[in-house]
Amino acid sequence: MTPHQIQLIRSSFEPLKPLAATVAEAFYAQLFARDPALRALFRGGDMSEQGARLMQMLAAAIDLLDRPATLRPVLLRLGERHTVYGVVDAHYACVGAALLDTLAAGLGEGFTAEVREAWTTMYGHVAQTMQEGAAHPATLAA
Ligand code: HEM
Repeated sequence: MTPHQIQLIRSSFEPLKPLAATVAEAFYAQLFARDPALRALFRGGDMSEQGARLMQMLAAAIDLLDRPATLRPVLLRLGERHTVYGVVDAHYACVGAALLDTLAAGLGEGFTAEVREAWTTMYGHVAQTMQEGAAHPATLAA
Protein backbone atom coordinates (compact mmCIF):
# COMPACT_ATOMS: atom_id res chain seq x y z
CA MET A 1 0.00 0.00 0.00
CA THR A 2 1.22 3.48 -0.74
CA PRO A 3 1.37 6.15 2.01
CA HIS A 4 -1.32 8.00 0.06
CA GLN A 5 -3.63 4.97 0.20
CA ILE A 6 -3.04 4.63 3.95
CA GLN A 7 -3.94 8.30 4.31
CA LEU A 8 -7.12 7.81 2.24
CA ILE A 9 -8.21 4.90 4.42
CA ARG A 10 -7.59 6.82 7.62
CA SER A 11 -9.38 9.95 6.47
CA SER A 12 -12.36 8.00 5.10
CA PHE A 13 -12.68 5.86 8.26
CA GLU A 14 -12.59 8.89 10.57
CA PRO A 15 -16.19 10.11 9.97
CA LEU A 16 -17.46 6.54 10.48
CA LYS A 17 -15.88 6.10 13.93
CA PRO A 18 -18.64 7.87 15.89
CA LEU A 19 -21.18 5.80 13.89
CA ALA A 20 -19.47 2.50 14.64
CA ALA A 21 -22.59 0.72 15.93
CA THR A 22 -24.66 1.74 12.89
CA VAL A 23 -21.88 0.87 10.46
CA ALA A 24 -21.41 -2.54 12.08
CA GLU A 25 -25.15 -3.21 11.92
CA ALA A 26 -25.24 -2.25 8.24
CA PHE A 27 -22.24 -4.48 7.60
CA TYR A 28 -23.87 -7.58 9.10
CA ALA A 29 -27.12 -6.85 7.25
CA GLN A 30 -25.13 -6.73 3.99
CA LEU A 31 -23.22 -9.88 4.89
CA PHE A 32 -26.25 -11.98 5.82
CA ALA A 33 -28.16 -10.76 2.77
CA ARG A 34 -25.30 -12.04 0.62
CA ASP A 35 -25.04 -15.37 2.40
CA PRO A 36 -27.68 -16.16 5.04
CA ALA A 37 -25.82 -19.37 5.94
CA LEU A 38 -23.04 -17.28 7.52
CA ARG A 39 -25.38 -16.30 10.34
CA ALA A 40 -24.91 -19.74 11.88
CA LEU A 41 -21.17 -19.08 12.40
CA PHE A 42 -21.84 -16.20 14.79
CA ARG A 43 -22.61 -18.29 17.82
CA GLY A 44 -21.62 -15.59 20.27
CA GLY A 45 -25.14 -14.23 19.83
CA ASP A 46 -24.86 -10.55 20.67
CA MET A 47 -24.28 -8.99 17.25
CA SER A 48 -23.84 -5.47 18.61
CA GLU A 49 -20.93 -6.66 20.74
CA GLN A 50 -19.57 -8.60 17.78
CA GLY A 51 -19.92 -5.49 15.61
CA ALA A 52 -18.05 -3.39 18.17
CA ARG A 53 -15.17 -5.90 18.15
CA LEU A 54 -15.04 -5.88 14.35
CA MET A 55 -14.91 -2.08 14.24
CA GLN A 56 -12.22 -1.97 16.96
CA MET A 57 -10.14 -4.48 15.06
CA LEU A 58 -10.51 -2.51 11.84
CA ALA A 59 -9.51 0.69 13.64
CA ALA A 60 -6.50 -1.07 15.20
CA ALA A 61 -5.43 -2.48 11.82
CA ILE A 62 -5.78 0.96 10.23
CA ASP A 63 -3.58 2.48 12.95
CA LEU A 64 -0.90 -0.14 12.25
CA LEU A 65 -0.94 0.03 8.43
CA ASP A 66 2.39 1.85 8.35
CA ARG A 67 3.88 -0.65 10.83
CA PRO A 68 3.43 -3.92 8.92
CA ALA A 69 5.90 -5.82 11.11
CA THR A 70 3.66 -5.15 14.12
CA LEU A 71 0.39 -5.71 12.27
CA ARG A 72 1.36 -9.00 10.64
CA PRO A 73 1.52 -11.25 13.75
CA VAL A 74 -1.78 -9.75 15.00
CA LEU A 75 -3.48 -10.69 11.72
CA LEU A 76 -1.88 -14.14 11.59
CA ARG A 77 -3.29 -14.94 15.02
CA LEU A 78 -6.67 -13.39 14.17
CA GLY A 79 -6.83 -15.59 11.07
CA GLU A 80 -5.93 -18.67 13.05
CA ARG A 81 -8.69 -17.96 15.59
CA HIS A 82 -11.15 -17.61 12.71
CA THR A 83 -10.64 -21.26 11.76
CA VAL A 84 -12.05 -22.12 15.20
CA TYR A 85 -15.14 -20.05 14.34
CA GLY A 86 -15.64 -22.21 11.23
CA VAL A 87 -14.41 -19.55 8.79
CA VAL A 88 -12.89 -20.84 5.53
CA ASP A 89 -10.99 -18.97 2.80
CA ALA A 90 -14.08 -18.68 0.57
CA HIS A 91 -15.84 -16.56 3.22
CA TYR A 92 -13.32 -13.75 2.92
CA ALA A 93 -14.58 -12.61 -0.48
CA CYS A 94 -18.11 -12.30 0.86
CA VAL A 95 -16.98 -10.31 3.89
CA GLY A 96 -14.85 -8.05 1.65
CA ALA A 97 -17.78 -7.33 -0.66
CA ALA A 98 -20.08 -6.61 2.32
CA LEU A 99 -17.46 -4.27 3.79
CA LEU A 100 -17.04 -2.32 0.54
CA ASP A 101 -20.82 -2.00 0.09
CA THR A 102 -21.14 -0.76 3.67
CA LEU A 103 -18.40 1.83 3.14
CA ALA A 104 -19.99 2.94 -0.13
CA ALA A 105 -23.35 3.45 1.59
CA GLY A 106 -21.81 5.13 4.64
CA LEU A 107 -19.47 7.49 2.80
CA GLY A 108 -21.69 8.40 -0.14
CA GLU A 109 -19.83 10.79 -2.44
CA GLY A 110 -16.75 10.46 -0.25
CA PHE A 111 -16.36 6.91 -1.53
CA THR A 112 -14.44 7.88 -4.64
CA ALA A 113 -12.81 5.39 -7.00
CA GLU A 114 -9.50 6.13 -5.33
CA VAL A 115 -10.90 5.49 -1.85
CA ARG A 116 -12.52 2.25 -3.07
CA GLU A 117 -9.23 1.06 -4.49
CA ALA A 118 -7.36 1.85 -1.26
CA TRP A 119 -9.88 -0.14 0.82
CA THR A 120 -9.89 -3.02 -1.68
CA THR A 121 -6.10 -3.20 -1.47
CA MET A 122 -6.13 -3.03 2.31
CA TYR A 123 -8.81 -5.70 2.70
CA GLY A 124 -6.90 -7.92 0.26
CA HIS A 125 -3.76 -7.68 2.41
CA VAL A 126 -5.63 -8.23 5.67
CA ALA A 127 -7.58 -11.21 4.30
CA GLN A 128 -4.47 -12.75 2.75
CA THR A 129 -2.50 -12.48 5.99
CA MET A 130 -5.39 -13.90 8.03
CA GLN A 131 -5.67 -16.82 5.60
CA GLU A 132 -1.93 -17.39 5.94
CA GLY A 133 -2.38 -17.58 9.71
CA ALA A 134 -5.23 -20.04 9.22
CA ALA A 135 -3.09 -22.24 6.98
CA HIS A 136 -0.12 -22.26 9.39
CA PRO A 137 -1.60 -22.69 12.85
CA ALA A 138 1.82 -22.80 14.55
CA THR A 139 1.84 -19.01 14.43
CA LEU A 140 -0.54 -18.96 17.41
CA ALA A 141 2.40 -19.80 19.64
CA ALA A 142 4.41 -16.84 18.32
C1 HEM B 1 -10.92 -8.13 7.72
C2 HEM B 1 -11.27 -9.35 8.11
C3 HEM B 1 -11.83 -9.64 9.50
C4 HEM B 1 -11.63 -8.99 10.68
C5 HEM B 1 -10.81 -7.72 10.95
C6 HEM B 1 -12.37 -9.72 11.69
C7 HEM B 1 -12.41 -9.39 13.05
C8 HEM B 1 -12.96 -10.19 14.03
C9 HEM B 1 -12.78 -10.00 15.46
C10 HEM B 1 -11.94 -8.87 16.10
C11 HEM B 1 -13.46 -10.97 16.11
C12 HEM B 1 -13.56 -11.14 17.64
C13 HEM B 1 -12.92 -12.42 18.12
C14 HEM B 1 -11.40 -12.51 17.95
O1 HEM B 1 -10.68 -11.49 18.08
O2 HEM B 1 -10.91 -13.62 17.67
C15 HEM B 1 -14.09 -11.80 15.08
C16 HEM B 1 -14.89 -12.91 15.32
C17 HEM B 1 -15.56 -13.60 14.34
N1 HEM B 1 -15.48 -13.39 12.98
FE1 HEM B 1 -14.26 -12.09 12.05
N2 HEM B 1 -13.02 -10.78 11.10
C18 HEM B 1 -12.71 -10.77 9.76
C19 HEM B 1 -13.15 -11.66 8.81
C20 HEM B 1 -14.13 -12.59 9.02
C21 HEM B 1 -14.68 -13.46 8.00
C22 HEM B 1 -14.23 -13.52 6.54
C23 HEM B 1 -15.65 -14.20 8.59
C24 HEM B 1 -16.55 -15.21 7.89
C25 HEM B 1 -17.84 -15.10 7.89
C26 HEM B 1 -15.69 -13.84 10.01
C27 HEM B 1 -16.49 -14.40 10.98
C28 HEM B 1 -16.30 -14.28 12.34
C29 HEM B 1 -16.95 -15.13 13.34
C30 HEM B 1 -17.96 -16.25 13.03
C31 HEM B 1 -16.49 -14.71 14.60
C32 HEM B 1 -16.88 -15.28 15.98
C33 HEM B 1 -18.23 -14.79 16.34
C34 HEM B 1 -18.78 -15.37 17.62
O3 HEM B 1 -18.02 -15.72 18.52
O4 HEM B 1 -20.00 -15.43 17.68
N3 HEM B 1 -14.75 -12.86 10.22
N4 HEM B 1 -13.76 -11.29 13.85
